[in-house]
Amino acid sequence: MTNLTDKTLAADAKIATANASGGYYRGWKKTETYSVSGIILHELYFQNLGNNSVPPEDKFLQLTQKYFGGFDAWRQDFTACATAARGWCILVYEQRTATFRNILLDLHDEGNIATSYPILVLDMYEHAYFLDYATDKAAYIKRFLDSVPWDVIERRVEIVM
Ligand SMILES: [Fe+2]
Repeated sequence: MTNLTDKTLAADAKIATANASGGYYRGWKKTETYSVSGIILHELYFQNLGNNSVPPEDKFLQLTQKYFGGFDAWRQDFTACATAARGWCILVYEQRTATFRNILLDLHDEGNIATSYPILVLDMYEHAYFLDYATDKAAYIKRFLDSVPWDVIERRVEIVM
């Protein structure tokens, strides 16, 4: 969808139709952020799906201690955040205040903080878990967190810490 969006906007964005209530231009601009964000989040999600080959590493443990009161407290909050999410649960580094937060998105492009950098990304759309877990979101979230490849997460943390 991103290619079609880019091609359409480049060919003729019909900027004269720009209107906050709706229309051609607004529709494609909404599609642009939705599809680009969807690609990015899915790539990060699949990169941080794993089989728990390594335990959480130093910088990640440090950030959970500093910003959440410890790994277990961070995990408890991330689990609650995921349970409440309709689209995504993400541990982000928020650059303006230099803090880490667990945030939830109900759509690919709705609910994010503008200056956030994604550290750990969990897909909470039903398509991500329903075939394997049906309505048991708790089991899906637990399995995800028990399986995170923490070396991948440590590399992301090192970029911002
Ligand atoms: Fe998904």
